[in-house]
Amino acid sequence: MRDDPKERAALGRAANAIAPADGIARRRADFPILARTVNDRPLVYLDNGATSQKPQCVIDAEAHYYAHLNANVHRGVHRLSQEATDAYEAARDIARDFINAAQREEIVFVRGTTEAINLVANSFGARFRAGDEILITGMEHHSNIVPWQLACERSGAVLKVVPVDDSGELDAAAFESLLSPRTRIVGLTHVSNALGTINPVRELIALAHARGVPVLLDGAQAVPHLAIDVQALDCDFYAFSGHKLYGPTGTGVLYGRRALLEAMPPWQGGGDMIRQVSFARTTYNDLPYRFEAGTPNIAGAIALGEAMRYVRDLGLDAIAAHESALLRDATERARAFPGLRLIGTAREKAAILSFVLQDVHAHDVGSILDHEGVAVRTGHHCAMPLMERFGVAATVRASFALYNTHEDVAALFAALDKVREVFGDA
Ligand code: ALA
Repeated sequence: MRDDPKERAALGRAANAIAPADGIARRRADFPILARTVNDRPLVYLDNGATSQKPQCVIDAEAHYYAHLNANVHRGVHRLSQEATDAYEAARDIARDFINAAQREEIVFVRGTTEAINLVANSFGARFRAGDEILITGMEHHSNIVPWQLACERSGAVLKVVPVDDSGELDAAAFESLLSPRTRIVGLTHVSNALGTINPVRELIALAHARGVPVLLDGAQAVPHLAIDVQALDCDFYAFSGHKLYGPTGTGVLYGRRALLEAMPPWQGGGDMIRQVSFARTTYNDLPYRFEAGTPNIAGAIALGEAMRYVRDLGLDAIAAHESALLRDATERARAFPGLRLIGTAREKAAILSFVLQDVHAHDVGSILDHEGVAVRTGHHCAMPLMERFGVAATVRASFALYNTHEDVAALFAALDKVREVFGDA
């Protein structure tokens, strides 16, 4: 059949207007951006690992705040300030419920996963001493490497790294043997952003706790795909971003076990985090405000609450089942595609497909895919040590979300056929 891009674009718009009828992906009509075209072709958005698109209800929640509630929080007796505070604190309650934290005081609003990890590395890390050890893994994002390296530089602590095997799984025996009496914290990704590996975090946390070591989970790539229960996981800290969860950029949550947060010094100083200030001595506010210095992203937090409500109402189990089907489809096609090498073939994976094409640079693949209207991420995915582990400088990464369809998977592989046409079978 002749492939007419204009016709495809028109069909795409029509499909959006009536919403394709394959289960949860019919909700794609909630996401206005998915109706647009790129290079006269329907947008096929497969860069959800970098950021997800936003449903209309999230866009509306942010606009509603500025149109009707805008005022600073925790600061005014006037009506607007009270209403803004109520909406902001209601979002905290939604976040508490979303990850099943025991108490709302354990939910700290931050700018994103990066800020959450930096908060812990600075504040919890203030107790690190020379010779202490921080255990991370070979599949961490730079944001779960560099804050710990900085903590090591400040304290003289030493960074230890759990190796990754050829399939992209952690070596659990090495994890156990690297836990030592000097280990002060484990920083571990729940889901690898570059490989999609879902780590067996419950088991790894149990191993760490058996030695009295707390664990921080980087949940940036997990929260959009898996139902999170921080109490069942028994983690000590859980960090995630709003923008990968259909919420706004510049939002995120740090969950911290109350006893640990209580014992941690403030990280940033300023308004709202204090109880009493004098030049002689300052005392600090209660949790969680002690860790929220300055005017927060109020509209963002409220809209993040709306995103969590949206995801919760759809049900993460239904979302996960849909995305697993997309991943199975994409993986089967990838295995049959000439010259394609999958990077990351762990037994448990979230909907992330990372690969290289023989002799074709990932950026060239990405450019041709973009020409076909298919958005993927290419590069090192902020995980340079992991790329080195697999002997590649960059991969092409397709990452799926609830609104993706099997038609999107087909469009990805049709576009990869175009890459082959341009570069030959190499
Ligand atoms: N951390 C994001 C990603 O993996 C930006 O693409």
